[in-house]
Amino acid sequence: MCGIVGYAGYRDCTEVLMEGLSRLEYRGYDSAGIAVFEDDTIRVAKSKGRLADLTEKMQEEGRPEGHAGIGHTRWATHGEPSDRNSHPHGGGCVTIVHNGIIENYKKLKEFLLSKGRAFESDTDTEVVAQLLDYYYLNSPGNPVDAIIRTMKELEGSYALGVVFADFPDMVFALRKESPLIVGVGEGENFIASDVTAILRYTKNYYLLEQGEIAVLTAKKATIYDTHYQKIQKELKTADWDISAAEKCGYAHFMLKEIHEQPTAVKTTITPRITDGMPDLTECGITPETLLKFRQIHIVACGTAMHAGIVGRYVIEKLAHVPVNVDIASEFRYREPLVGEGDLVIIISQSGETADSLAAMRLAKELGAKTLAIVNAKGSSIAREADMLIYTHAGPEIAVASTKAYMVQIAVMYLFAFELALANGSISEAECRRLTALLQEVPEQIEHILAHKEMTQLIASELITADSLLYIGRGLDYALSMEGSLKLKELSYIHSESYAAGELKHGTISLITENMPVIAVATQTKLLEKTISNIKEVKARGAKVIVVCKESYGLEQDVADLRFSVPDFEDILMPMLAVVPLQLIAYYTAVHKGTDVDKPRNLAKSVTVE
Ligand code: AGP
Repeated sequence: MCGIVGYAGYRDCTEVLMEGLSRLEYRGYDSAGIAVFEDDTIRVAKSKGRLADLTEKMQEEGRPEGHAGIGHTRWATHGEPSDRNSHPHGGGCVTIVHNGIIENYKKLKEFLLSKGRAFESDTDTEVVAQLLDYYYLNSPGNPVDAIIRTMKELEGSYALGVVFADFPDMVFALRKESPLIVGVGEGENFIASDVTAILRYTKNYYLLEQGEIAVLTAKKATIYDTHYQKIQKELKTADWDISAAEKCGYAHFMLKEIHEQPTAVKTTITPRITDGMPDLTECGITPETLLKFRQIHIVACGTAMHAGIVGRYVIEKLAHVPVNVDIASEFRYREPLVGEGDLVIIISQSGETADSLAAMRLAKELGAKTLAIVNAKGSSIAREADMLIYTHAGPEIAVASTKAYMVQIAVMYLFAFELALANGSISEAECRRLTALLQEVPEQIEHILAHKEMTQLIASELITADSLLYIGRGLDYALSMEGSLKLKELSYIHSESYAAGELKHGTISLITENMPVIAVATQTKLLEKTISNIKEVKARGAKVIVVCKESYGLEQDVADLRFSVPDFEDILMPMLAVVPLQLIAYYTAVHKGTDVDKPRNLAKSVTVE
């Protein structure tokens, strides 16, 4: 959840670290800090709050000047956000930054206390710094040895950037579970939690694998295994350029990413369509493989899980194969009935979500085949899955997911079409028709984006609400879950999504004139039913906002406000109707003045349980 960077080179290290951290701040933003070699002393600057607070502090107190160092932006796990708990943390001659959780830190702390060591923070990270120093003092002059000995003691997840006072201008790094890359430049090398942090300087990088250790100087980056043997690694090249990680004139990353959705859909589906038909062979999926599965489980978290719920409706409707959707943190602990003959689909933007990764590993252990639908290239989930479909959304920087969700559902459609064709549930002609319609979706989204003004008006009506309900039936219910999550994570207004038909079984008691209701109604077969439910809440005083198809002639008293989406095939409507829901959440947050791209308490990549 935290972001880490490291640099060894010829540039102003503080500037490189701060630039890198600004790209990683979406991973956590409770506090930030850097440690830079000033000749052979390590100078630390850190502060509670955002990077801007650290910049301000350095303006007042002076900034470290040097050419090598490490940096961190934090999402607090152990110890409240404070200057004291901010990284980097030191222990003797060692200073470190850490992303992850050390599960056995209490035991290690007791051991170190018994050796007379004292601690300054409440973090698990400081324990690692002290332990590294403890082992280093046992074999002075050999930092990699101290790292290997420390790794043997650590339980949990970590990506660590380390500097030793005895080794000026060198940066050490190691990882287990938490992601870390090693960027390779000309006369400079980097470490980073993800590639966006170094794109300004280089596109070339190594992916650090479990248990590997990197040693960086300005001239070279050397990777070792846990037996201190050098490893030759494949140099990868990022296919994103720096503009993908910049706002490019948009007020927020989220708004930019909402507008990138048409392109993201095209880039994701085009390579998977051959002669007008879905073709996932490049991802290891053929009609023959698909026919082997008797049951499908979709496992994910948050927005990705909502994409899975759309997937369930679509797969069951078109391919008639049973689908369970599970929250990854529940799936992994409930002894799921999964085994041979099952396909477990893991959906994740980051490919690093701890619960999703653990769920996938469990599914494999139980004998199921796994298919990952992932956006971040080379991420852990992508690497460990049996089959893989990359979504090509480009980097998603805003903490609230928009374009990643869009392409996740685009892939769900392609998958459902291919499966339905393979098992004979739909004809070739129908498959071709649906695929052609899917290819038209980007144009439809463009149209919605060009007529988005109404979402601003709707948002201005919501800012005074304390609580909201989103309702819908079928695919509209699946969509209302995502609309509700977007609104609450961005604007901090409480909201719930309900199956419209379920309201009468209890929740309708909450309805008053102070509880607006957003009704999603795009499924023609269910329209009359949904309208009845809307009338029920209207009759009890609720202000109702309806997101529905253009052609629906709603009676005047049904909607107080209405956003019309173009008429399109019912089954594909989620890809259209989600856009106004994203925009409503976005503008509500803007009107309320909350931090749109970095909402309170959240982090983009949830790499801890
Ligand atoms: C969405 O807006 C959230 N930020 C969150 O629910 C997210 O979708 C979830 O944490 C899963 O992340 P992943 O796709 O990277 O696995």
